[in-house]
Amino acid sequence: MWGVSYYHGVMQPIQLLQRGVLAGCLLCSTVAVLKAQPLVINYDEAKVPRFTLPDPLTTQDGIQVTTPSAWKGIRRPEILSLLTREMFGEAPGSPESMQFKVESESVDALDGLARRKEVTVHLEGTADTAGVDIDVLIYLPAKAEKPSPVFLGLNFAGNHSIQNDPDITLSKSWMRSNPQNGIVDHQATEASRGSGSSRWPVETILKRGYGVVTAYYGDIDPDFDDGWQNGVHPLFYRDSQKTPESHQWGSIAAWAWGLSRIMDYLQTDHDIAGNKVSVLGHSRLGKTSLWAGATDERFALVISNNSGCGGAALSKRAYGETIRRINSSFPHWFCDNFTYYNDREHLLPFDQHYLIALLAPRPVYIASAQEDRWADPKGEFLSGVYADPVYRLLGKKGISAREMPEINESVGDTIRYHIRTGKHDVTDFDWEQYMNFADQHLK
Ligand code: GCU
Repeated sequence: MWGVSYYHGVMQPIQLLQRGVLAGCLLCSTVAVLKAQPLVINYDEAKVPRFTLPDPLTTQDGIQVTTPSAWKGIRRPEILSLLTREMFGEAPGSPESMQFKVESESVDALDGLARRKEVTVHLEGTADTAGVDIDVLIYLPAKAEKPSPVFLGLNFAGNHSIQNDPDITLSKSWMRSNPQNGIVDHQATEASRGSGSSRWPVETILKRGYGVVTAYYGDIDPDFDDGWQNGVHPLFYRDSQKTPESHQWGSIAAWAWGLSRIMDYLQTDHDIAGNKVSVLGHSRLGKTSLWAGATDERFALVISNNSGCGGAALSKRAYGETIRRINSSFPHWFCDNFTYYNDREHLLPFDQHYLIALLAPRPVYIASAQEDRWADPKGEFLSGVYADPVYRLLGKKGISAREMPEINESVGDTIRYHIRTGKHDVTDFDWEQYMNFADQHLK
């Protein structure tokens, strides 16, 4: 079987190449070159390999972690540096020269329901490179009497795609062409306004007392494999460096780093409750929100929507998308060290439950979809289950379930999980759970 038929069911071949298939994802406007080699993608629970997961509460020296201070002081830093070095890659800190500029502001957007702001986060260029602008869109409940809690998440197709609001500045950034959604010759057109709005129920969110903050992920790093020549990476190359070293950041770490830069701005905005920012993302951007939460503890709550392989799903299960497959289709997402584990999941000294454990004791929501087998719903659930001992150690309830819940049932306390009906997507049902979860933990 060739790769394209397994591409979470929504890929369409665009063009046949001599050595591979160029395929476009109908859901997220990805294009990937799928090598024409036989792929064994497993969807059979009976064929999941036997594996033993490493214990998040045993240090590299084999010492049991039994106190919150040993977790915080020893084990958490160990796990963070392991995942940094072996998987996502090391990112720079917050740059010294960064500027925020409020580009527009309205107090009666969306028929008076919202305050809307557009803010640019400007990152200085270097002698060799131009700077980078991250355009941030903010909607806040117009009638809020206190600083608002917000949901922050990157979007796939420009800020103007999340809501059909003619006053949102149309993105000028490079985008994957998608004429169906109004993206022509890599540029957004007026026709693309609101094209992603089903995933962003802005009005409902505002009515529940939350704000929405978003930016286009391609502003931070365009999502294609160019050896990290565009986006934020070149801003940090040293001397004659041309590409990140094998332990340095890939694109997911860059997107997560960009979320932290937006967070830097949010901390300065008095209309926003800087201690009540929930970071969320779908699919590759769910992997990104998890890593943002792991690397930046200012995020109060973290949401992974269908994040799958490299996100919440356990890699050692090798069910659906595998490490080799993700590293081949998207060589720019993780750091080069991660390719060592292609077809060698058994050698991983960690698994994705470590990523969830890094969020402890903060609330985390992991969401799956029944038809999204590519993302391995059970593997997503289990990473929550195996992170639970860390939450317990830190005095939180985590998640008690040990078996997958019924479809459309939300279970767990500080670690919450659901698998809903339907496909790989973000739906109103998902948002309803996220807002209930935020009400429970942040209000
Ligand atoms: C592909 C990829 C997944 C990713 C998804 C998305 O399906 O294989 O790992 O989550 O794209 O981001 O939509």
